[in-house]
Amino acid sequence: MKEIRIGIIGTGNLAAHHAKNYNAIPGVALAACCDLNRERAEEFAKTHNVEKVYDTFEELVKDPSLDAVSVVTWNNAHCAATIAALEAGLHVLCEKPMAMNAEEGKRMQAAAEKSGKLLMIGFVRRFGINADIAKSYVESGALGNIYYAKTRCIRRCGNPLGWFADKARSGGGPLIDLGVHMIDLARYLMGKPCAVSAYGVTNNSIGPQENIKFHSRYTSKDPLKDSTVEDFASALVRFDNGAALQVEVSFNAHIEKDELSLELLGDKGGMTIEPELQLHTVQNDILSNVTPVYSVPKDAFSSFFAKEIQHFVACVRGEETVCRNPAEDGVELMKILDAIYKSAETGSEVKID
Ligand SMILES: NC(=O)c1ccc[n+]([C@@H]2O[C@H](COP(=O)([O-])OP(=O)(O)OC[C@H]3O[C@@H](n4cnc5c(N)ncnc54)[C@H](O)[C@@H]3O)[C@@H](O)[C@H]2O)c1
Repeated sequence: MKEIRIGIIGTGNLAAHHAKNYNAIPGVALAACCDLNRERAEEFAKTHNVEKVYDTFEELVKDPSLDAVSVVTWNNAHCAATIAALEAGLHVLCEKPMAMNAEEGKRMQAAAEKSGKLLMIGFVRRFGINADIAKSYVESGALGNIYYAKTRCIRRCGNPLGWFADKARSGGGPLIDLGVHMIDLARYLMGKPCAVSAYGVTNNSIGPQENIKFHSRYTSKDPLKDSTVEDFASALVRFDNGAALQVEVSFNAHIEKDELSLELLGDKGGMTIEPELQLHTVQNDILSNVTPVYSVPKDAFSSFFAKEIQHFVACVRGEETVCRNPAEDGVELMKILDAIYKSAETGSEVKID
């Protein structure tokens, strides 16, 4: 079997998940990496057994030995790095969010189509075992027609600061960082309807909450301590099949505790995917709740990344012919996020083409 040679663009926290999972696949080599921070890239190369360190992604993509890259930079570099890699004839796995906005996403999709190479988006939650089980119920018709979904990803005090809180590098706050996962998962399970409009609101009056004591949270390695992104966003999205999705996300909100939830409502059954998988239905004219029994991998979230990277490599090798997370799904998500942000700004419902 031909060796698959991977380059990693951006060697921060999440790149480690990519590297670990590439290294676990026989016949895959980490050939190159780069980062704006050369020292970080050198350290990463040592830790993850990467053969060569480049200064820039422009140099890295010219490495003739490469087959594919992972783009794991701040969001504002996803578009340029992805297009450079595709134009150099490389397959790309680009982290979520696909880009800063739909316009960038469309250019990335066009570059993939022109090059004939794969552009896969890192919607890692699609690889969760709960997503697989929920999808199997949906596809068997257990929910009937899904007309509504509701999701919350709420942090009480969880702005990671650094580049995540810098709109110029992230494109936004919890909506583009956390909401992107939950909106995508809901839409994926609903059968990928296209959005036709969104009505959204945001709030950014709480701020970084750096003063909070006795509370631990994930913070970016990046030194910036200010925040120019929203603390909270809420939206109602309408789809072309008549279904709707309600979403609420926050980095900061005065609520009892952090919450992650996703529910689907169909005319034959409903389903809770987060926080716990359950089917709500009618059996023998009895209202019933069905709890699927399944083994959860030890480190569940890490296992999602393992499956995502395995799928990407299988697509690159041609062993899988249908990519689970194609570029067009990334563009669809960026259109929804753009519309929510625009609606929050204008105070009106925003149509989506
Ligand atoms: N799938 C998930 O659940 C998940 C989780 C966390 C982060 N992410 C995504 O992964 C990406 C990286 O996040 P992170 O947490 O690793 O951030 P990070 O700050 O730890 O790492 C990002 C790295 O990219 C580097 N970088 C920025 N611009 C670059 C450029 N032009 N060229 C080369 N390197 C560049 C930075 O120097 C930094 O080292 C983001 O897009 C984020 O949204 C996804």
